[in-house]
Amino acid sequence: MSNNVLSRLRPELNKLQAYAVPDATGLVKLDAMENPFTLPVDMRSKWLDHMSHAQVNRYPEPNPENLKQKLKDQFGPHDGGDLLLGNGSDELIQLLVLAIAKPGACILTVSPSFSMYQMIAEMIGVDCHIVPLDESYQLDLAAMLAAIGKYDPALIFLAYPNNPTGNLWSKNDIHKILNKSQGIVVVDEAYGPFAGDSLTDVLVKNSNMLLLRTASKLGLAAIRFGWLAGDAKLIAEFNKIRLPYNINQLTQLTMEFALDNYALFAEQAETIRSLRGSLFGHLSAIEGVKPYPSEANFILIKMLSRDAGEVFDNLLEQKVLIKNVSKQAGLGQCLRVTVGSKEENKIFCDALNGALNS
Ligand SMILES: Cc1ncc(COP(=O)(O)O)c(C=O)c1O
Repeated sequence: MSNNVLSRLRPELNKLQAYAVPDATGLVKLDAMENPFTLPVDMRSKWLDHMSHAQVNRYPEPNPENLKQKLKDQFGPHDGGDLLLGNGSDELIQLLVLAIAKPGACILTVSPSFSMYQMIAEMIGVDCHIVPLDESYQLDLAAMLAAIGKYDPALIFLAYPNNPTGNLWSKNDIHKILNKSQGIVVVDEAYGPFAGDSLTDVLVKNSNMLLLRTASKLGLAAIRFGWLAGDAKLIAEFNKIRLPYNINQLTQLTMEFALDNYALFAEQAETIRSLRGSLFGHLSAIEGVKPYPSEANFILIKMLSRDAGEVFDNLLEQKVLIKNVSKQAGLGQCLRVTVGSKEENKIFCDALNGALNS
């Protein structure tokens, strides 16, 4: 490739790295917060039957109202508002940042949190300001309010529960942030199915708030589907920069099927919550590690007696893949594990014990 051609690209690309996904072939995969359960056999054949209606020679429904109605019925909001559908919630985060990307505009988020908010801002060329969480991974409200006053962000991203710390924020703090912000507050409830609370009721009363959700953590990571809920006028503006047909037909049909059979997914989420409780109990009994309580389908664990990087490598040698987050600001010596099936969680705990005692 000649330098001439490369010199035509935006220079910022030089600093960026492509999103890296490790190869998990042959490993117990507990790194990406996927649901460990797939569709039961009888459900799978019903799903395939439903999929056989796909008209693959046609473009998909451009704005699938039926699907949107089913989503609203299941998750709200029930009193007005509209939805914008995305090819995963990542696409919607990108679309939001694209929509505000005018000179001088910036976004605000917290750290540690979901890295894509910052990565997407960087790739689009929008400034991203970051307010560190306090020592117990709670919002530093005074610092948040000060940053809002100083930078006037067009978008504030808050994951609820937060990834990778697993906790919820105080609702009171969210209200104060909503009141102070002149821009849009995006509450990302990717892990909502595993949490004891949701901010859907707050959304209805605040037209400067948007709520982001995904099917990925529910057990449908393969289909890439997310949605944004909020004030209809605001959603209509964002809809103008959505690419046509961004939700393919197979995804639309699968999502409709999933919503028609939502009890199965709700039951799986309930099972995962209970498995999370047992995993937390087992981790608490292991000497040399500190698990953090979680409202999501993962647990953040601090290594107290060994180096997190060494423990991670040792787990990998034992064919267990989790996520090494210890290099991220505020997460020194921390690893993050997805709640797996009962068997996977046992393999992980045994391997962790082995790594700590090696
Ligand atoms: C907080 C948060 N939001 C959004 C996403 C992206 O989800 P999707 O698979 O819908 O793009 C993730 C993925 O891990 C996440 O942790």
